[in-house]
Amino acid sequence: MKSMKETLHVPVLLQAAVAGLEVLPGSVVVDATLGGGGHTREILRRVSPGGSVIALDTDADALDHFRKAARSDEFLAKALAKRSLILVHKNYSLLGGVLEDEGIETVDAILADLGFSSDQIEDGERGFSFQKSGPLDMRLDQETELTAGTIVNTFSQGEIEKILREYGDESESRRIARAIVVAREKKPFVMTSELSEIIESAYPKGKRYRSVRPGSRQGSIHPATKTFQALRIAVNREFEHLEQFLSEAVKHLRPGGRLAVITFHSGEDRIVQQFFKKQIQGCICPPGFPLCRCGKKSILKILTKKPIAPDDQEVKDNPRSRSAKLRIAEKL
Ligand SMILES: C[S@@+](CC[C@H](N)C(=O)[O-])C[C@H]1O[C@@H](n2cnc3c(N)ncnc32)[C@H](O)[C@@H]1O
Repeated sequence: MKSMKETLHVPVLLQAAVAGLEVLPGSVVVDATLGGGGHTREILRRVSPGGSVIALDTDADALDHFRKAARSDEFLAKALAKRSLILVHKNYSLLGGVLEDEGIETVDAILADLGFSSDQIEDGERGFSFQKSGPLDMRLDQETELTAGTIVNTFSQGEIEKILREYGDESESRRIARAIVVAREKKPFVMTSELSEIIESAYPKGKRYRSVRPGSRQGSIHPATKTFQALRIAVNREFEHLEQFLSEAVKHLRPGGRLAVITFHSGEDRIVQQFFKKQIQGCICPPGFPLCRCGKKSILKILTKKPIAPDDQEVKDNPRSRSAKLRIAEKL
């Protein structure tokens, strides 16, 4: 285990995301995903003096870890003591309630850096990794009930197939779901390694490693990647929470305030893109209506026509950033 004083997580698109929020000294900002605290720290630096950051995480370990690390960081320790940095153990889908508890109606900017941190994936006991054997857990919040083990051991073949297809875009979802159901008849799954072995054996041989560069296994995708992603999304109801978060975020931004979201796979990015598009749409009355009857007004202005991606240097320094996409919008 790593020392509690440090995080393994390297923040992705740090400067682009924080600059995109356009915060100033005195701004009040939400970081919806504290993780290792890289973005939180940079935002806090930019809003000081006079501003504050409310940082949420659904994982109590992430908050504990950050609190411990902050003890040896004078800037963070002071901010926590005077509550210019407030840490909250809550799902970001509950953002409205968090702000209400703090007596805050609207904020100047909101950031969400989705998914999981390197600290979580590197801790085999959390069950996120097929490369480190551990229990089939995958819960970001240990207080929720559903685990990956429950899904693979008790859900029907059809339900498992649907999860893999819809949340993992897994083209071999049927084969894998079938192999899982056959294997669990002999022995229920306990460890991540048992699941990843079954997925690998179910995969058609020619497709096992789809290399990014032909002829090379460098950068190749392990056959369990998509299944693990899909199970994690299902266990944590990630898509549902993301949709709720986006609505809450727009409600609680002040006019002119900015929302920045970093996604790591197409399912998440699609939700953010579609949400932004819906919010820029104004009147939907049929053409020819002299006066608007629908009352629909556009609420957001999209500032990133194309999402911002990390440059080659960032991908080289931090390969985990390679699928990242940053989208930013401003409340009208
Ligand atoms: C990619 S990490 C954030 C890294 C962070 N920006 C940094 O610089 O260290 C994502 C974090 O979001 C948290 N998270 C995921 N889903 C969440 C949710 N629905 N509500 C709150 N936090 C969530 C995870 O527990 C994880 O710690």
